[in-house]
Amino acid sequence: MSAIQNPAAAEQPALRSARLRQASAVLHDQLEHAVGAHAPFESRESYGRFLQMQYLFQSELKGLYNDPELNQLFPDLASRCRADAALADLNDLGLAVPAAVPGALIAPNRATALTWIRVSEGSKLGAAILIKRAEAMGLSETFGARHLAEPEGGRMRGWKAFNAIFDALPFTPTEEADADQAAVDAFSRLQILLQHTYSAHA
Ligand code: HEM
Repeated sequence: MSAIQNPAAAEQPALRSARLRQASAVLHDQLEHAVGAHAPFESRESYGRFLQMQYLFQSELKGLYNDPELNQLFPDLASRCRADAALADLNDLGLAVPAAVPGALIAPNRATALTWIRVSEGSKLGAAILIKRAEAMGLSETFGARHLAEPEGGRMRGWKAFNAIFDALPFTPTEEADADQAAVDAFSRLQILLQHTYSAHA
C-alpha cells in the first residue's frame, strides 16, 4: 500500500528533525514574539536581560553539551556550547551573573537531552539576525554579543551537521515521544527564563 492512501502518514514528516520543527513552529514564533516584545535591541538595559536569559539557558545545558557519551555521538558537541561565551558577554557589560532558576532540566534521557540541545542549536540560526541588531548597538562577537557569533564553518553547515547525526540515531517509539515532549519543554523553559530575567530586579 502506498503512503498516499494513508493521509496521516503523508502529513507526518519522515525525518525526526522535520517533525520536531513542525511540532514546535508555533512555540518558536511565540518565543520570538515574546523576545521582541521586550525590545532587547533598543536599550542596553533590555539587552542585558535578554543576555541573562540566554546565559541561564546555556548554563543549564552546559553539562549536557559536555556529556562524554553525547560527545561520542557528536564529536564537536562540547565546542558548540555557548555558556562561556554568554558569561563573557555578561562580564563585558559589567552585568551580574544571574542565580540559577529552579526548574532546570535534570538527568534527562538521551532523546530528551539531544532535543533540548537541538533547540539551543537552532537558536544559532535566529542569532544571525540578532547579532546584526546587536552590532547596531555597538556590540560584537568579541564584546557583549559573543554568544550570538557565527560558529566556525558557518551557521547552516553546523545546523545541518547536527541534524544529520540527530536524525540518524535510532530512537524507540517512546524516545520519539520523549523528543516531541522535550521540544515543547525547552521552549517553555525559555519562556520561563525570559519572564524571570525581565521581572527580576538586577
Ligand atoms: C532563544 C530564543 C530562540 C530559540 C531557542 C530559537 C530556536 C530555534 C530553532 C530550534 C530553530 C530551528 C527550527 C527547526 O528547524 O526546528 C530556529 C530557527 C530560526 N529562528 Fe529561532 N530561536 C530563538 C529566537 C529567535 C529569534 C528572536 C528570532 C528572530 C530574529 C529567530 C529567528 C529564527 C530564524 C530566522 C530561523 C531559521 C528558520 C529557517 O531558516 O529554517 N529565532 N530557531
